[in-house]
Amino acid sequence: MKLKRFLTFTMTAALGLSLLTGCGSSSSSSSSSDADTSAEVSSEAASEDTSSEDSEEVTTVSEGVLTMATNAYFPPYEYYEGSEIVGIDAEIAAAIADKLGLELQIEDMEFDSIITAIQTGKADIGLAGMTVTEERLQSINFSDSYATGIQSVIVSEDSDIETIDDLAGKKIGVQLSTTGDIYATDDFGSDYVEQYNKGNDAVLALVQGKIDAVIIDNQPAISYVAANEGLKILDTQYAEEEYAACISKDNEGLLDAVNAALAELEEEGTLQEILDKYIVAE
Ligand code: ARG
Repeated sequence: MKLKRFLTFTMTAALGLSLLTGCGSSSSSSSSSDADTSAEVSSEAASEDTSSEDSEEVTTVSEGVLTMATNAYFPPYEYYEGSEIVGIDAEIAAAIADKLGLELQIEDMEFDSIITAIQTGKADIGLAGMTVTEERLQSINFSDSYATGIQSVIVSEDSDIETIDDLAGKKIGVQLSTTGDIYATDDFGSDYVEQYNKGNDAVLALVQGKIDAVIIDNQPAISYVAANEGLKILDTQYAEEEYAACISKDNEGLLDAVNAALAELEEEGTLQEILDKYIVAE
């Protein structure tokens, strides 16, 4: 079953990363074990003496600009406040751009288009609460992880679904091409999975009784449940994940610079500040 394989992958990755941070770096803020509130840039970069200023030349799609691709319907990572895109990813990207001496420009698109936009040189970096997966690593690079995520299950308050196993044979809504989509399709079969372009469209379908559950990242799930009456999140988690920025395989210079910037932001406590601003510990 994919779910098991995936959890093994993330656990191995997490172990490898903590080993890396463990050797030589005293900066890692692993004091909080709360899955999606702890900022921990896990990498060798954190222990190297590289500052973003002295790294090799960084090239971007548009000179002087860091173009970020995202899908801005994913609170608290990215969402609209009026006409402005705000949230954890927007702030982290702004802080990275600042360190690199670049001006941040955010492009909103379907989640499904982000990796292609990076590959085809329409954007430099994708920040979208995007999970590091082996499949995605075939086509793009990921920066060091800047946050952890959880795939959660939303059901209606009076639902008879209590565990992950109860999802078998039910209609499950997901956001197209997300890990929720990929793993639900793998575990329960495509006949039972309804794909929506936006997470909130899936939640709306649940509210309208068209589907039985939504599998989505935990923080957006919390926002959606708060915004819609009659919904709840199952206590059981579906999967644990690492979020990172995706960058073209052809732009190693930017990858190194972003990792160095993330390491500095982690060391300065900025990363944790940004997470704490948007994620209220339960
Ligand atoms: N973490 C999930 C994934 O990487 C969902 C991300 C969706 N992000 C968004 N901005 N809509 O597949």
